[in-house]
Amino acid sequence: MGDSGQRTQLGVLSQSTVRKRSSDTSESDVQGVSKRRGCRNALDAFLQNRVENMRNNASPFGSCHQGVHGHSPQSQSIMSQSGVTKKRRGPNVDSLFRKSDSGTMTNQNKENRTPDTGVQHRGRGLSIENQIRSVSKRNGRGLGIEKQIQLAATTNQHNILNGKQASSSHYDCAGQRIGEKSRTMTNEGTIPYYGGGAAALKRVETPVPTPQNDEVLIKLEASSINPIDFKVQNGLLRPIAPSKFPFIPVTDIAGEVVKLGSDIKKFKTGDKVVAKLQDMSGGGLAEYAVAKENLTVARPPEVSMDAAALVTAGLTALQALTESALLKLDKNYPEANVLITAASGGVGHYAVQLAKLGNIHVTATCGARNFDFVKNLGADEVIDYKTPEGAAVISPSGRKYDAVINCTTGISWSTFEPQLKENGTVVDLTPGAGTLANFALKTLTFSKKKVVPFLANCRCENLEYLVTMVKQGKVKSMIDSKYPFSKAEDAWTKIMSGHAVGKIIIEYS
Ligand SMILES: NC(=O)c1ccc[n+]([C@@H]2O[C@H](COP(=O)([O-])OP(=O)(O)OC[C@H]3O[C@@H](n4cnc5c(N)ncnc54)[C@H](OP(=O)(O)O)[C@@H]3O)[C@@H](O)[C@H]2O)c1
Repeated sequence: MGDSGQRTQLGVLSQSTVRKRSSDTSESDVQGVSKRRGCRNALDAFLQNRVENMRNNASPFGSCHQGVHGHSPQSQSIMSQSGVTKKRRGPNVDSLFRKSDSGTMTNQNKENRTPDTGVQHRGRGLSIENQIRSVSKRNGRGLGIEKQIQLAATTNQHNILNGKQASSSHYDCAGQRIGEKSRTMTNEGTIPYYGGGAAALKRVETPVPTPQNDEVLIKLEASSINPIDFKVQNGLLRPIAPSKFPFIPVTDIAGEVVKLGSDIKKFKTGDKVVAKLQDMSGGGLAEYAVAKENLTVARPPEVSMDAAALVTAGLTALQALTESALLKLDKNYPEANVLITAASGGVGHYAVQLAKLGNIHVTATCGARNFDFVKNLGADEVIDYKTPEGAAVISPSGRKYDAVINCTTGISWSTFEPQLKENGTVVDLTPGAGTLANFALKTLTFSKKKVVPFLANCRCENLEYLVTMVKQGKVKSMIDSKYPFSKAEDAWTKIMSGHAVGKIIIEYS
């Protein structure tokens, strides 16, 4: 980590996102029933459980820590998203499980108002120095004014160079809102700013984070992007995540430990690791990041930096199979049949390989172009999701499913239900309101066939298991594409397309 020079980073233009409600096809299945008191109670209990998990353990995907702490003389390059947060409210179905794919969200530029005066700003307002002083004050970091000016100048320069981004309102987003949010973060009624896709990521420069006692500082070799990253950008987990703006997205990283918190026992500097950062504060689209020791796993020499791909996608596949579908991968299940939808994607491609560890018969859905890819992962039967049989998830051999690991949206319970065995379970990775209501109903009525909403939870032992499987050559991370950090925006665009085959990696050199 001897490299202590200042570097250029990516930040984000803030854009407001107005949610457009989308209908969940499975919702119709339970219409009228979902309002029953029992359903509401079970649903509330599920949500309460998840919210507690997110608050205590920081997020549905892992435990909390600050992505950036204090400051050091060194600086790093990061990509972050700036914006304004809204005062936190109690989460509900909408806020936790809102559909937020680009197709179901509408971005709109909202008027940029200071909360105290209501004055609109268009290319004016706080001076650059004052904007950055505000940020520094809010972050309690006390950056030197030289760096503050440089940070602002870098950000604004980037906007101007980006052509359309240099329009007055966007220019304001990058500049004015940085200053504005430092004064309005906790103000009731402040409009949140989300969305913007790759164009909203801006290079900015920040101090290298300082690890807290239970954290390690990691110099990144690679990070891996997941759909949840752009969904958080779009406001899926608002108001819980991002916990504050500017926000550095991405949580799955691999790299080398370069500094230890005072309580660290498991690692020494120079260790190669893979780690999960928290969804609330992100931090993984940067050259350096701090990770909790208990969410960091040693990476043996046989396991490359591509192990960053394992974190969210691998953990999700593993936990969906073992904890929600209750399959044991060290057993032999020749009779079991599992359907894995979107088997060509990040989660699906791990799920196929993991299921085969238990000798489970795997039926997979994917596009025709990915048939060979999915068969080579070990799938026994493959269905083209664009055909009528694929849409109906009917197994070519006529087998019913013990479990479905559903990695897609848009397939209703009424489609899955006839294809399930008597005790069949659908594990829904993208649960909408319909799934939640259905889950409550099935639970209350002790239904044998059921749907289970799923949220991954990062646990070290699970990540260690996955790293071991990779080391032993039993699981492979199939990489769709690799991008240098300088082209991270292209990686963002690719993951948002929804057509990655395997995983997307960003490399840091
Ligand atoms: N609940 C959780 O804790 C959790 C955790 C991780 C992920 N997830 C969610 O799970 C979903 C999958 O994640 P991922 O990382 O695997 O996504 P991904 O890598 O972006 O998935 C892309 C792949 O899905 C395929 N695909 C898209 N629609 C399909 C359909 N209807 N049928 C079959 N294949 C389809 C695409 O193939 P084509 O190009 O041929 O369309 C592409 O290969 C995402 O929505 C993600 O947010 C949830």
